Amino acid sequence: MKLALITGVSKGLGESIAKLFLESGIHVLGVSRNVNKHLEKVAASNQVKYHHYPCDLGSMNELEETIEKLKVDIASYDPSLLYLINNAAVIDPINQVSNINNRDLQYHIQLNTVVPMILSNQMLNFTSSTDTTFICVNITSGAANRPIYGWGLYCSSKASINMYTKTAALEQDILKTGNKIIAFNPGIMDTSMQQTIRSSTKEAFYEVEKFKGYKESKQLRSTDTVGGILIDILNDEASIENGKIYDVNEYV
Ligand SMILES: NC(=O)c1ccc[n+]([C@@H]2O[C@H](COP(=O)([O-])OP(=O)(O)OC[C@H]3O[C@@H](n4cnc5c(N)ncnc54)[C@H](OP(=O)(O)O)[C@@H]3O)[C@@H](O)[C@H]2O)c1
Repeated sequence: MKLALITGVSKGLGESIAKLFLESGIHVLGVSRNVNKHLEKVAASNQVKYHHYPCDLGSMNELEETIEKLKVDIASYDPSLLYLINNAAVIDPINQVSNINNRDLQYHIQLNTVVPMILSNQMLNFTSSTDTTFICVNITSGAANRPIYGWGLYCSSKASINMYTKTAALEQDILKTGNKIIAFNPGIMDTSMQQTIRSSTKEAFYEVEKFKGYKESKQLRSTDTVGGILIDILNDEASIENGKIYDVNEYV
């Protein structure tokens, strides 16, 4: 039996991935601060289970408490395959680096870098003592590959997660565990993160007009389309390339 653990399930890409897993008969454990009632209904109509863990991932205490609850619940499912989708992330603070407040910096790195690292470490460790195969997807961004004025933290946190993906994957290859860790760049999507980006000032975010143009010219993809592409990649399990940084643009 397959089980998926997904962060950031309340909206956006995380909600779509959770919905698509549930519709394909995979049980889902979802983590976010806000509840998503729709996912409960999708689970019920597909005869699968959905469990929500309310958690502010910006708090180390809440994260650690949630991981302990997750371990107990995952063990009770005894899955043959566990997916971890590290999706929750923030774009804020958007600002030139010299204007970034220390606390905002710490929160951003906790959410975008520390949480996915801890969750993948903990789940790798946890599944290593069972017969469960582990497949981890870290949601990344094209921003990992180029500097963007005003996105110093976001570019750095996503670049960091790409290198962590490659390193953890290399270790699993050498250890011959069969576990796989990949990253997936979903491209630009019509979500609240893009609303935040468009609401920036030109002083804080030099390319703001370009991003307003993406919305006006309908270039932002739907999260269901992008989520479907990721599910197709995961469904072809034998072809998943451990350590690869997948890019949605190679599939559309
Ligand atoms: N949108 C794009 O154009 C785009 C482009 C490239 C990459 N990405 C990446 O795609 C992923 C999904 O982005 P999205 O656009 O779908 O984002 P979104 O619509 O802003 O949704 C973010 C999700 O993360 C959760 N989250 C945020 N802060 C949290 C916290 N402190 N604790 C727990 N959960 C938290 C939110 O849940 P709660 O608020 O309920 O906690 C929400 O479910 C991210 O990794 C993002 O970097 C997005």
